[in-house]
Parts: sequence; structure tokens; C-alpha cells
Amino acid sequence: MGVVVALAASLCLVLLVFAGVVTCSPGQRNLRRSQSRSLCAQIIQPTGYPCSEHTVQTKDGYVLALQRVSAHAGGDIEVNPGPPIFLQHGLFQGGDVWFMNSIEQSLGFILADHGFDVWVGNVRGTDWSHGHVSFSEKDKEFWDWSWQELALYDLAEMITYVYSVTNSKIFYVGHSQGTIMALAAFSQSDIVEMVEAAALLCPISYLGHISNQFILRMVSMHLDQMLLAMGIHQVNFRSDVGVQLVESVCDGHVDCSILLSFITGTNCCFNKSRVDFYIEYEPHPSSSKNLHHLFQMIRKGSFARYDYGWWGNLKQYGYPQPPAFDIGCIPKSLPLWMGYGGNDDLADVMDVEHTLKELQSQPQLLYLDHYGHIDFVLSVTAGEDVYNNMIGFFKSCGKPSIS
Ligand SMILES: *[C@@H]1O[C@H](CO)[C@@H](O)[C@H](O)[C@H]1NC(C)=O
Repeated sequence: MGVVVALAASLCLVLLVFAGVVTCSPGQRNLRRSQSRSLCAQIIQPTGYPCSEHTVQTKDGYVLALQRVSAHAGGDIEVNPGPPIFLQHGLFQGGDVWFMNSIEQSLGFILADHGFDVWVGNVRGTDWSHGHVSFSEKDKEFWDWSWQELALYDLAEMITYVYSVTNSKIFYVGHSQGTIMALAAFSQSDIVEMVEAAALLCPISYLGHISNQFILRMVSMHLDQMLLAMGIHQVNFRSDVGVQLVESVCDGHVDCSILLSFITGTNCCFNKSRVDFYIEYEPHPSSSKNLHHLFQMIRKGSFARYDYGWWGNLKQYGYPQPPAFDIGCIPKSLPLWMGYGGNDDLADVMDVEHTLKELQSQPQLLYLDHYGHIDFVLSVTAGEDVYNNMIGFFKSCGKPSIS
């Protein structure tokens, strides 16, 4: 029985990935929302929390959306802000992920209630970001990036913006790909200087020990290279065909939460009754090049820049091999906290231990045996299980104005 579900799920997922094909043909764009709507207007303001939209432009021309949220008591964010905290979502997710559960359960709202000045990042390619100064989403150049650019351009620009607006060092929270971005970016001295302390949910720098059979199968069938070879540059589960597939798959044929567990590991505390709401916003698009870079990490077990091949690397980097990101360069003085789970198929415990060995500092750790990858953002009990501990860590980093 389990095998049948597993096979059905993997077949569906491969179909979903291939459904990304359609977005490459002109004239199709996701159906969910008109461009004029915003994360603040759609999700946050209806709850009564003040929220403002901000934009930043990266060095390579992407225009990103940032949201700033505060607690509703007392109202005005700009007047008496608490310490700034920046939330960075993971792969195929957007800033909405921090606000998807109830106010009592969602990290974005919980942090605002604790008096933090909450800033929400959205990387290029997500539905909340605003495109590019010269390319459209139909251009292959628009999708010519991986997490390396998300770390060195998007994150650098967003952190710099928050730092300059708030005039304060920033607390950082990242999940999954948001931790890859952090570990890569924080190994660069100019970015880490703006960060007060960082909490990493499902920390990833090494992916050599991924044991998820489904992902390993996609890696061994070279799905990443197939997509690129076929001229598919965007991975979008929500293209016209993608939407129908997501909806039909999640409409009784295969339980969507089983499908999700299948990719991410079993999530203990996922609210199945909210799936309809989640899939109004998630998943967000990403690039095939990003998938390829992630698969390179799985194949090689390294935490390095994008591998263009021997000749391409020489041209890009001046070396035949892509230079590694040296997480040993992250300053010992940066307080770190990490939350990881025993059922997480993506941030494998052995890979987390590898990361810990290379860091100079000893992060504060929270290990939850029964937690899967998605639980760290969507568990209905994450407040008690994870966020209280994390907020305690931030408070211990000595910002007196947090209640
Ligand atoms: C799960 O989601 C449903 C629908 O939004 C909600 O009514 C219910 O309270 C949620 N359950 C928990 C445990 O939060």
C-alpha cells in the first residue's frame, strides 16, 4: 500500500515538475492574483496587523518586495519599532509562509506580538517579487540564477535595506533554502556585519546525506539537466497545467499532505484542513538552474558555487572547480541558533552535524525527533515546540526593548 502511494506520488510529482514546461510558452502567467495585490493587502492587513510594502532592486536588476509588520496594539510601526528581525523563506515558498496558520501559530505574527519589527523577504521569481528591470518572466535570462545569486544579491540587498531603514543590526530567521542563503552570505564579511544573531530552521549547507528515495531518483534520472536541456528555465507548479494538476492531485486522488511528506519527510503537525488555503499561495516558482545547483550539492556533497563545468568555471571564477563557500569564515562572534528535526528528509541530521563541525562557533541547538521539514514553518504547535525557544535565544542576545 505504502509503495503504491509512493509510486503514485512520485509519478504525480514528476508530472508536476514537467508541467513547468508550459510556462515557457508565451501568454501564460499564474492565475492566482493580479499584480496589483500584495502580501500585506492579501494576508496581513485583513488580520488587523499594520503592514507596509517596500521594494529593493538588486545589482543584477531584480525588483524584490519586502514587507514590514508590527503588532497591532499601539499601531504605528515607524514610530516606535522594536528590534528588526528578517524572515527568509525556503525553496518554492514566499514570504506568505510565515503567516499561513492562525495568528497564535504563525511565526510572523508571534514575533510581531513579541514587539519585534518584522521584515519579510521574498526572493526573485516568487509571486510577490516584482520582476526585473529589463527581462520578463518569459525570458530565459530572467531565470538565469541559483541560490548563489539569492545569497549574494537578493539577501545582501534586502539586509542592507533593512539595516539602513532601521539603523540597527538585524536578527535573522531562515528556513531551508533561507539557511543556505544565510550560510553562504554570512561567509562574506560585508553582509554578516549587519546581522546581530541568526536562527536557522532546518539548516542546510551540505546535502550529501539526503536519503529521500524520491529526491535521489530525480537526481539519478538527471531531472535538473533534462529540464535545462529541454529549454525549461522556470520550475512552476502553478502554470495553467500545473494548477490543474495540483488541484486534481490534491482533490482526493492522492492526499496532498502525503505527497508533501513524501518529499520533505513526515510532518508531525501539519494541518490537513488548511491545504486549500496553503495552495492558494504556495508553491512559488523557482529556476531550473537553482534546482540544478541543489542537485550538484547532492551529487558532490559540497557547499560551493554553481558548477559551470571545467571551462565555464575557468571563465566565471578563474579556477577549474567552483570555489567553496567556507562556513568556517562565519565569525565566531555571530550568535547562532539551529532547529532541526529527526523526520526531516532534506536537512538530514548527518549533514547538519557536518555543518556544525565546520562552523567556528557552537550554535544553540534544538532537536525535535518527530519534526519534519515543513513542521518548522507550518506545524500547528511550532509556537511551543520551536518559536518560544528561538525567541528566548534572541532575547538572550541582549536587545532590551523586546517584551
Ligand atoms: C486547522 O485548520 C482549520 C481550517 O482553517 C481550523 O479550523 C483548525 O482550527 C486548524 N487546527 C488547528 C489544530 O489549528
